[in-house]
Amino acid sequence: MTRRLLEPGLSMITDACRAEVWDDLLPPPQAEILRRVRGVDGLLCLLTDRIDSGVLNAAGPGLKVISNCAVGVDNVDVDEATRLGIPVGNTPGVLTEATADHTFALLMAAGRRILEGSQQVHSGGWKTWSLDGLLGVDIAGATLGIIGFGRIGQAVARRASGFGMRVLYTDPASHSDDGMAAQKVTLETLLGEADFVSLHCPLTPETSNLINRRSLALMKPTAVLVNTSRGAVIDQQALYEALEEKRIFAAALDVSDPEPMPDDDPLLSLQNCLVTPHIASASRSTRMAMSSMAAENLIAGLKGLPLPNCVNPQVYKGRE
Ligand code: DGY
Repeated sequence: MTRRLLEPGLSMITDACRAEVWDDLLPPPQAEILRRVRGVDGLLCLLTDRIDSGVLNAAGPGLKVISNCAVGVDNVDVDEATRLGIPVGNTPGVLTEATADHTFALLMAAGRRILEGSQQVHSGGWKTWSLDGLLGVDIAGATLGIIGFGRIGQAVARRASGFGMRVLYTDPASHSDDGMAAQKVTLETLLGEADFVSLHCPLTPETSNLINRRSLALMKPTAVLVNTSRGAVIDQQALYEALEEKRIFAAALDVSDPEPMPDDDPLLSLQNCLVTPHIASASRSTRMAMSSMAAENLIAGLKGLPLPNCVNPQVYKGRE
């Protein structure tokens, strides 16, 4: 285990098998993962760990399961795991509502300049109520564009309907939208019409740098960009330029590439860029549920049973 899980997930694992836990606050260095993975039957990892073909091959033929304690699996070389016949587990569903809550918090905070306002008060910079102080953009009645209309994107859309927002979305897959008044459009239409653009797609070769100079140029000068998916979906240099030149109104990022964002990242010098430290799923009950789900996946894999949540079920084809 590359980190200590929250209970009861941790005890579920230690009751089921002999577990070696990396107990440091920081993730294990790659060399440590490579050294310690040798001969293990199962690997429990976090999104901060790079589980590449080197790690998978270093583990040896006994590796029966990889359980990633996250819904996103871009840190795992799933293709190589599949080739080696190793099931990879993730934690979908349990973090949907918490992530959508945080997305909406970011959307509102960036749109209404809440952090700037708070900083102004804390620093003694607030002198008087004024008609033009810290003017933001309207949320009620605005148009929200959701890129990636899976569970989390739809949960954000449900919140938006309470604010009377018009919801546009784009997604290469077809999803049942549960009767929501959301309209599927092209990416270009979404970027051109949305007052808020929120990213909820997985990081894949197709979505890497999806938000780039070209896409930012299509957005309204009053638009707010929110990212709770993966940092690499945005070209951060292009975003910096767009924010700096006020070509869009603001951005709110829970994720970045790399993580943590370096102290001297230019984005951190901007008042119109709000950054949180990848905490969209960080409610206690959600992180406990993620831990338990990751434990269930690991234990099933160790027993040779199908994982309750497996991202590469094709590994079971042809098995008894
Ligand atoms: C995930 O599970 O992929 C999230 O990014 C964690 O919050």
